[in-house]
Formats: sequence, C-alpha cells, structure tokens
Amino acid sequence: MRVDVVSIFPDYLSPLRLSLIGRAADAGVIDLHVHDLRDFTDDRHRTVDDTPAGGGPGMVMRPEPWGRAIDHVRAQPVDGLPRWIVPSPAGRRFGQELAAELARSPWLAFACGRYEGIDQRVVDTLAQQGGVDEISLGDYVLNGGEVAVLAIVEAVGRLLPGVVGNRESLAVESHADGLLEAPAYTKPARWGDRVVPQVLLSGDHAAIARWRRDESLRRTARVRPDLVLALDPVGLDARDRVVLGAEGYELADGRIRPANPPVAH
Ligand code: 6GU
Repeated sequence: MRVDVVSIFPDYLSPLRLSLIGRAADAGVIDLHVHDLRDFTDDRHRTVDDTPAGGGPGMVMRPEPWGRAIDHVRAQPVDGLPRWIVPSPAGRRFGQELAAELARSPWLAFACGRYEGIDQRVVDTLAQQGGVDEISLGDYVLNGGEVAVLAIVEAVGRLLPGVVGNRESLAVESHADGLLEAPAYTKPARWGDRVVPQVLLSGDHAAIARWRRDESLRRTARVRPDLVLALDPVGLDARDRVVLGAEGYELADGRIRPANPPVAH
C-alpha cells in the first residue's frame, strides 16, 4: 500500500517510521511518502493560511498550496488515483470497519489541516476528482490532522498481510467481532495474593474459550452498552443470553434491549 501525507509538520509523522508500522515501511508493505505543504507555497514567507472569509476567529488554509500539493501527489508513478482522506472533527467516525475498508485500498493520501481547517474548495475539488473521505477519530477536537493520520495509518497498516506476525491476534482482538476482548494474563500463576483464573490453567480449551466469551460479553456490557445493543442476536447462543441476562439485557422481538426499561411517569 502506498501512503502519502501532506502536512505543514512533516516531522509529526516520523513515529510512522518506528515499531510495527516502521518495519512494514522498511519491508515495503507500506510505501510512505510525507510531503511538506510549505514546499508548494510561492511566496517568500511560505504562507499557508489567511483570515476566514466572512470574518471570525482563527485562520484558514489557503487553497493554492493545497492545489499544487494534490497535483504533485496525483502525479506520482502509481496506477489509478489515491483515495483522499481529510482528517476532521467534522468527518464520519473512524472505526475498525472503516479501517478494514481502507486496508483494501492500494493508495491512501492524507491532507492534514491545521488552524480552522482547509478552504472548502480544496475538499470540493477532491470530491469531484474521484472522491474524498472526511474522517474523525471521535467527538473531541485536536489541533490538526496529524495525530489522526498516525492513528488511522497504524489501524490500517496492522491489517495488511505480513505486518502483524500472528494473524490470529487480529481475529480475537477488541472490536473484531463487535465485542471488547477478554482480559489477558501471563505467568507467574500467583503474583502476591492475585492469581490467574483457574480455568486458564486447566488446559480445557473449550472451557477457556467459553470463559473468554463470557468475560468479553460482561466487559462489553459494563463498559460499552452501545456495542451490546448493536450486536446481531443471531450470533448469540443460549449461554451468551444467560450472561447478558445477568448484566441486565434481554432478547425480545429479535432485538437486544435493556431488561425492565424504566417506565416513564
Ligand atoms: Cl480527524 N481532526 C481533528 N483536528 N480533530 C479531531 C479529529 C480529527 N478527530 C477527532 N478530533
């Protein structure tokens, strides 16, 4: 996968050269290219921003350097067009499903905004030239898109073949099946007065799988009730229903809902 990132802080993307994703870059699984937006300015001060049309606080990124940077990325010797992504708190919410979808793209290009954002005409131009996704990490505000790119490229990169050593860990981790992962333990079996749950030392693989499923359901019910309500009841066996029942959920009319929902008076 080729990844291009345009930013006024190219150094901000240097963590992508480290660790798992860095090794993927070294191995050629991820072909990473970071571009400095200021290289596409044409004034002595390398200006990238200006005051907002219509007034108001802050600054907006000017369209001309962005237009040249986008043309430069598009002119790279790669087949087809990049899938453009503009990180923005006003975008659609990023999640494991979107990560998996992006992992199927051969070429991602990120336009990192700073200040109050990029002139909308840049985004409209990308939309017209093959499309653009505005993507948000969540309901909070960052100073710019760079940290979002670090998160998105790491979440996408680890889904590429050969990046995560053990493919099986991708299948069981949190969010892979709409549930949070069960807690993990290692040796020693006793640490102070805390012990590893007995079942994990039993060697009974079916019992271990069932225990992990129970813990996964309980943890999700307690921490992320929104994920429980989004589960497909078809995927729940009788034991799952007992566990969720004990956490205060019931199956009714083919839907999962809180048992005894409070009655309005
Ligand atoms: Cl993608 N960008 C910015 N600036 N803030 C954010 C975000 C993105 N996601 C959440 N907050």
